[in-house]
Amino acid sequence: MSCFPYCAVGRVIKGFGRGSKELGIPTANYPEDVVERLPQEIQGGVYYGWANVDNGTVFKMVMSIGNNPYYKNEKRSMETHIIHKFEEDFYGSTLKTVMLGFIRPMKNFSSLDELVTEIHADIAHAKEKLELPENLAHKDNKFFDESDKKLSF
Ligand SMILES: Cc1cc2nc3c(=O)[nH]c(=O)nc-3n(C[C@H](O)[C@H](O)[C@H](O)COP(=O)(O)O)c2cc1C
Repeated sequence: MSCFPYCAVGRVIKGFGRGSKELGIPTANYPEDVVERLPQEIQGGVYYGWANVDNGTVFKMVMSIGNNPYYKNEKRSMETHIIHKFEEDFYGSTLKTVMLGFIRPMKNFSSLDELVTEIHADIAHAKEKLELPENLAHKDNKFFDESDKKLSF
């Protein structure tokens, strides 16, 4: 049985801030309670889907779930890279994501360059997958329109 689509919602918190500085790939981090609610089936790895911020435009996204072996983080995180150029940070905003599929497991890399190259490949892969009719359909998932009041967080 598939656990997709998997919908998550939460406020964007500060990560370690390496995403945009070191990698040039900004990511929005979910708080711990959102990470803890993940079903068993969704373990570490890279996933693709759709996302919006404060009920705005829905964009394609890639999500990294795990301990970021390259950085040896102790806590598991759920980091979303929205495939869109935002002019400003949106810490404190509400991030909704609809995860639709798995791309690959988390890996360790021997250099930052390799990590960045792999993430770019993930983004290309996600863009392609999300054009499939069954995935494109979720861009209009009702979850993205629901007002925050109806959500339990
Ligand atoms: C699509 C995507 C794939 C990623 N894959 C890996 C991975 O395979 N291994 C890894 O150590 N980190 C991976 N990362 C996580 C980066 O290491 C992470 O975004 C970086 O540590 C920045 O985190 P920060 O915002 O908390 O500073 C990935 C991130 C994204 C967005």
